[in-house]
Amino acid sequence: MGAGQMGTGIAQVAAQSGFTVHLNDVSPSLIEKALGAIRGNLDRAVEKGRLSAEAREAAAARIEPAPDLATAGGADLVVEAIVENVEAKKGLFARLDAACGPHTLLATNTSSISITELAASTKRPDRFVGMHFFNPVPVMKLVEIIRGIATSQETVETAKSVALKMEKTPVEVQDSPGFAGNRMLLPMINEAFYCLMEGVASAEDIDTVMKLGMNHPMGPLALADLIGLDTCLSILEVLNAGFGDPKYRPCPLLRKMVKAGYLGRKTGRGVYTYQ
Ligand code: CAA
Repeated sequence: MGAGQMGTGIAQVAAQSGFTVHLNDVSPSLIEKALGAIRGNLDRAVEKGRLSAEAREAAAARIEPAPDLATAGGADLVVEAIVENVEAKKGLFARLDAACGPHTLLATNTSSISITELAASTKRPDRFVGMHFFNPVPVMKLVEIIRGIATSQETVETAKSVALKMEKTPVEVQDSPGFAGNRMLLPMINEAFYCLMEGVASAEDIDTVMKLGMNHPMGPLALADLIGLDTCLSILEVLNAGFGDPKYRPCPLLRKMVKAGYLGRKTGRGVYTYQ
C-alpha cells in the first residue's frame, strides 16, 4: 500500500525475491509512475551485470497494479507505506482489516508512529507488526521488526522470515518512539540543522565533516534531503512528544524549510537543490 519511494522500493525487492506483489495507491497514475521507476532500477541492475535479463523479466512480471483496495483481500501480507500521518494510516488499516481474510498479516513501514496504536485500529492486533525498511530499500540491508503490545510471536517470526527472503537483515525492536534506528539518526540530523542555523559551518562543510571525519556515506543534511524534510520533522515530533525531553526539540530551521515546501529531493529543493 503506497507507491512512494519506500513502497516502490519494497515492491521491487519483494518481486525480485520471488513474491507476487500487488501495488496499490490512491491513483492509478502514481502506480504507473512507480512501475516505471522499478523498471528503470531493474534495467540498471541488468546493465551493471547484477541481474540477468531473465530475472528482470520475471521480477517485473510479478508486480501487478492494484488500484482497488479489495485486491488486498487475498494477500498473505500487506505492507503499508503511505504518508506518515497517524490518522491516514489508522483509516487505511481499518479498511484493510475489513477487506482482508483472517490469515492476512498487516505490516506497517512507519518510521516512528506507535505500532500498538496503529494495531488498535484493527481487530487483529496479534497479526500486526512493524516492518521498517531503510531508504533506498534496494540498497539498505536492515529491516527493523517492531513488536506492538499484542503482536504474536508467530507474526514476528513470519515478518523476520519475509525480511530474510528479501535478503535483508531483520532486527527485533520494541515499540518505543523512533524505534532504534530513527531514535539515533534523527538527533544527529537535527543537530546538523542547528549547526547550519547557527552558522557553525556551511551545509557542504557540515556534510563533509561527517563524510570524511566519520566515514558516513553521505552527510546528515544530504541524508535529510533523501529521507524528506517533512518526514524528518514528523519523526522528531514523535520523539519530542514521546519522551518529553527537550533534546529532541526540532530545529526551527527545519520547521521553516518544511513550511516553505522545501522537502528535499522529492520537491527538487531541500537543503540542496536538485535538477
Ligand atoms: N535504488 C536502487 N539502487 C540504488 C539507489 C536507489 N534509489 N540509490 C543508489 N543505488 C545503488 C546504485 O545503483 C549503486 O549500485 P552499484 O554499487 O551496484 O553500482 C549503489 O547503490 C551506490 O550508489 P551510487 O554509486 O550512485 O552512490 P553512492 O555510492 O553515493 O551511494 C547511497 C548512494 C546508497 C544512497 C549511499 O550514499 C548511502 O548509503 N547513503 C546513506 C543512506 C542512508 O543512511 N539511508 C537510511 C536513511 S534513514 C531511513 O530510511 C529510515 C527512516 O525511517 C527515515
